[in-house]
Amino acid sequence: MINSKLPFILYGGDYNPDQWPKDVIKEDIRLLKLANINVVTLPVFSWALLQPDEETYNFEWLDNILNLLKDNDIYVCLATSTAAQPAWMSRRYPEVLPVDFDGHKRKHGGRVKFCPNSKVYRKFSVTLTRKLVERYKNYDNLILWHIGNEYDNYCYCDNCEKEFREWLKKKYKTLDKLNKAWNMNFWGHTLYNWDEIFSPSGLNEMWHGEDKTSTTFQGMALDYNRFMSDSILDCYLGEYRAIKEITPNIKITTNLMGTFKPLDYFKWAEHMDIVSWDNYPSYGADPATIAMSHDLMRGLKNGEPFMLMEQTPNQANWQPYNSVKRPGELRLQSYQTLAHGADSIMFFQMRQSIGACEKYHGAVISHSGSENTRVFKEWKRLGEELHSLGDEILDSKIDSKVAIIFDWDNWWAIEFSSGPSVKLKYIPQIEKYYKAFYKKNISVDFVKPTADLSKYSIVVAPILYMLKNNVSNNIKNFVSKGGTFITTFFSGYVDENDRVKLGGYPSELRDLLGIWVEELDALPLEINNILQMNSTLNGFDLEYKCNMLFDIINLEGAIPLALYGSDFYKGRPVFTINSYGEGDAYYIGSDPDSKFVDDLVGFLDSNYSLSLDFEPNEGVEITKRRKNDKEIFFILNHNKDSVNLNLKDYSYVNLLTKEKVFSKITLKGMDLAILRKLANND
Ligand code: GLA
Ligand code: ZN
Repeated sequence: MINSKLPFILYGGDYNPDQWPKDVIKEDIRLLKLANINVVTLPVFSWALLQPDEETYNFEWLDNILNLLKDNDIYVCLATSTAAQPAWMSRRYPEVLPVDFDGHKRKHGGRVKFCPNSKVYRKFSVTLTRKLVERYKNYDNLILWHIGNEYDNYCYCDNCEKEFREWLKKKYKTLDKLNKAWNMNFWGHTLYNWDEIFSPSGLNEMWHGEDKTSTTFQGMALDYNRFMSDSILDCYLGEYRAIKEITPNIKITTNLMGTFKPLDYFKWAEHMDIVSWDNYPSYGADPATIAMSHDLMRGLKNGEPFMLMEQTPNQANWQPYNSVKRPGELRLQSYQTLAHGADSIMFFQMRQSIGACEKYHGAVISHSGSENTRVFKEWKRLGEELHSLGDEILDSKIDSKVAIIFDWDNWWAIEFSSGPSVKLKYIPQIEKYYKAFYKKNISVDFVKPTADLSKYSIVVAPILYMLKNNVSNNIKNFVSKGGTFITTFFSGYVDENDRVKLGGYPSELRDLLGIWVEELDALPLEINNILQMNSTLNGFDLEYKCNMLFDIINLEGAIPLALYGSDFYKGRPVFTINSYGEGDAYYIGSDPDSKFVDDLVGFLDSNYSLSLDFEPNEGVEITKRRKNDKEIFFILNHNKDSVNLNLKDYSYVNLLTKEKVFSKITLKGMDLAILRKLANND
């Protein structure tokens, strides 16, 4: 449980009373109570108020607000306020100001604009945190700590460069090892002194291209990303340790951002007591894409329940078009979050600002100040419903038979790579496979490549380009014991420094897959080839289109399941299966259309019974959470129209209406049900 004091779903979010006078705050409290809010997060951006100068701290205004919240039974997720340093600090200690990718020293402004290796920033942020913890350690309504806010601050300053050298010394010990790891004899880059190392940036080895950031030295760029992710994590950890020393029993989090590239969230999650994240889908976003981010966030801590720290109750000011949430959308998206393993529904923000760039961002209390708005009413109703669920779903887990391997190092390396195709991007490939499972309501866990895979029937690793550590053995072990593994083109190429593994692709995976990839052809996306399927395969069409990348494969034991239909490699295998120990390993040597991936998942489903015991219905998403022996199904109708669902021979109780349901259920457009399965004698 997020906090054992609270056997209910946390409902509330970011509150910025520091932007308002007393009478408004009083009215806020009335409205927050009316809207069934039980928690607020604050003060996220109040460092300048809490510490007006280097020596002075001022907590009284916060004391007053915290007391008011306590008197009104509103709990507090206490933020450390360190995401935007005060201007006096930037002025007196310019070292806290970062240098950007193109070498510009930034002036003070914005937020999360500090150098992560600034000793001054670290000292002041930890001091403020310690003071907050000391002051509020016994505050009754404190339920969670929220460090910083959406960390995102790569820096390229001289100080970071110095620290980079130290980080590299620790990692490589000798320059000889470093020269080898980065392949520095290329273009005469051989280093003879640690001080000859320069941070890779837009001033030397890197440039922003049309679709991605490129580099001349992938090994160096990878290490810089790792170093930056670690440096920023160290800022978080300084505060984390200060909090843990004083309030060891209160959980600590920071709000993550889903498929966010710069930070290795698997590594970060090892230092978070609970994962929380901010979900801001754009207008018309595919529910599958949102579901994927939830599942990735749940995967960071091995499937433990996570928190939704922020979503918007209505429009987001920073989207290109600030569309309002359609009636029912707020509710449906909130339940989708719970359906994928969250135990909180929280928002940005409680009251709409009057000034600066977020003044047109949605809020529970809009500029009108009225409780008679559509959004306020939807919000209030949702709060009532969530409250009525009590602790029914809290701490329940999602059991998945399928895992997708996700890896930040691999993501960075693929997109730093010069070739094979400018169109090759990691997330769309992950998404293509994820969505095929999603459409069939087959739950997927995201795991890191070194995770224990033994509980899964199927593991998919789209473009497993980098084989680091013991990854190939981990996968072989899984397959040899009966697992099914699927991977694709551009897999098994490099080690953790992006150095090619010699002897033929996919190197260590060659015996597992029973193939040798002799060449890799890359063509403009408009040029298609054809996958001609082996006609004995059930559930597949005879042909599918494929494009982008085309492996030219030699079989070394694998059986071809599809052959290319054109070009000079016509008739050569493109889709193969190989038995390995007690399991099977599939290889997909080109980028097939999504119908192929859907049919592949259908084929796997018929062999492994992966999907839930409901008939699939277009636009209806179904997930299952399990709490001890109780099975709880979330049935979400993303369609505008109503749907009927056959419940077969089971009966359930609808946790929202408390009614017993059996044989069938009708859901209106954008409506949902949460069904707990009843045992025969219930
Ligand atoms: C982020 C931040 C919030 C706020 C919202 C606006 O998620 O964490 O402080 O700026 O965006 O959408
Ligand atoms: Zn810096």
